[in-house]
Amino acid sequence: MKLADNKATLSFSNGSPSIDLPVYQGSVGPDVVDIRKLYAQTGMFTYDPGFMSTASCQSAITYIDGDKGELLYRGYPIEQLATQCDFMETCHLLLYGNLPDASAKAKFTSRVTHHTMVNEQMQFFLRGFRRDAHPMAILTGLVGALSAFYHDSTDISNPEHRDISAIRLIAKMPTLVAMAYKYSAGQPYMYPKNHLSYAGNFLHMMFATPCEDYVVNPVIEHALDRIFVLHADHEQNASTSTVRLCGSSGTNPFAAIAAGVACLWGPAHGGANEACLTMLEDIQKMGGIAKVGHFMEQVKDKNSGVKLMGFGHRVYKNYDPRAKLMQETCKEVLAALGLENDPLFKLAMALEKIALEDDYFVSRKLYPNVDFYSGIVQRAIGIPVSLFTAIFALARTVGWIAQLNEMIGDPEYKIGRPRQLFTGSVERDVLPISQR
Ligand code: ACO
Repeated sequence: MKLADNKATLSFSNGSPSIDLPVYQGSVGPDVVDIRKLYAQTGMFTYDPGFMSTASCQSAITYIDGDKGELLYRGYPIEQLATQCDFMETCHLLLYGNLPDASAKAKFTSRVTHHTMVNEQMQFFLRGFRRDAHPMAILTGLVGALSAFYHDSTDISNPEHRDISAIRLIAKMPTLVAMAYKYSAGQPYMYPKNHLSYAGNFLHMMFATPCEDYVVNPVIEHALDRIFVLHADHEQNASTSTVRLCGSSGTNPFAAIAAGVACLWGPAHGGANEACLTMLEDIQKMGGIAKVGHFMEQVKDKNSGVKLMGFGHRVYKNYDPRAKLMQETCKEVLAALGLENDPLFKLAMALEKIALEDDYFVSRKLYPNVDFYSGIVQRAIGIPVSLFTAIFALARTVGWIAQLNEMIGDPEYKIGRPRQLFTGSVERDVLPISQR
């Protein structure tokens, strides 16, 4: 963080003395006004619900330029990472700051691969859930429960504990997600297979059964790997900020990541891919493409409460670069599976076309986000809709843990403790119950 040459001056119309506030520059992106001493100097807080103008931390991991539609992990454009690197390389990059060479990649991949099994006790824990429990409810519980299994890595202030818990979380997430699926399907859990890739192993744990081997389709494996790369990190989004805030109390990494899973579940965030596919299925049931116009009228009517799921983003006001890559993958997967005429894909294309030409969306700078196409890909692969957000959580785990570790290592790190503008009753006395 570099001090800028200029300062910000805050003046008040009531005659209170003005104050100077330091301005810091990042390597790229907007400067920040440092308001840390504002309360001490003026007795005032700032007010910014939804963090519309607030940088909650300094970070060197992911950079987004929402106007340009640019996403960089550690400086590398997402387009290059998605086409030239796999998820293991991306994990290494996010966690350690550099792309691995062949030997570092092999070592990292081997470490992750050799931590994919979960404690056998975990399956008994799963049995406590109803079979029809939502996978995100199960995943929140399972990830939180990891802290009860790995007592040797719960000290967040210990770099070795943080490192091994990062590997454990990245390695075990696919196993836990697949277990949640198998439990709901009433099928036996499949143990991980070390000769498979990260994505291939997940597909095996999802779709193999003890009766029949599962042959990994390389197109599907590649598509899933790309979904993981595209979702791996996204700077200070709601779930990442949740992980940071939760971890700022010094809680263990598993508990902090469980908080991230819980936050991601919401339909305005990671739950959007599930909500998007449900929306497409609903329109299809109503009559498909012929009903798109009617549906769009509802979306534009503020009183209807209907949103075009998979559209819009807090930061991207041009386009979401991940959506373009996902659309490409979507076409590849549908072609490989002979589903080019998939009605939901056609419906999605029709919705996208109308929205991109409609003034309601154009004037509000609403473009498809990554979730608009990721649901169609996952559905084509055979992943049930209710599991979509869990796949997102699996992929985002590396981002969460990289951000958590960065925060703990930051000398300026403090417990997160926002303040408030109090609008409730001023002090009053409790009346005896007979007089209330
Ligand atoms: N459909 C219809 N109208 C929309 C949509 C949408 N998907 N998104 C935003 N708008 C409208 C809002 O009603 C608002 O209109 P107004 O200015 O007339 O009041 C305007 O566009 C600005 O939208 P906000 O909700 O204020 O923008 P914000 O940055 O707070 O929200 C969000 C961003 C939550 C992503 C929103 O666009 C949304 O709900 N989208 C649908 C859900 C979704 O796809 N979420 C996935 C996000 S990406 C991810 O998590 C991977």
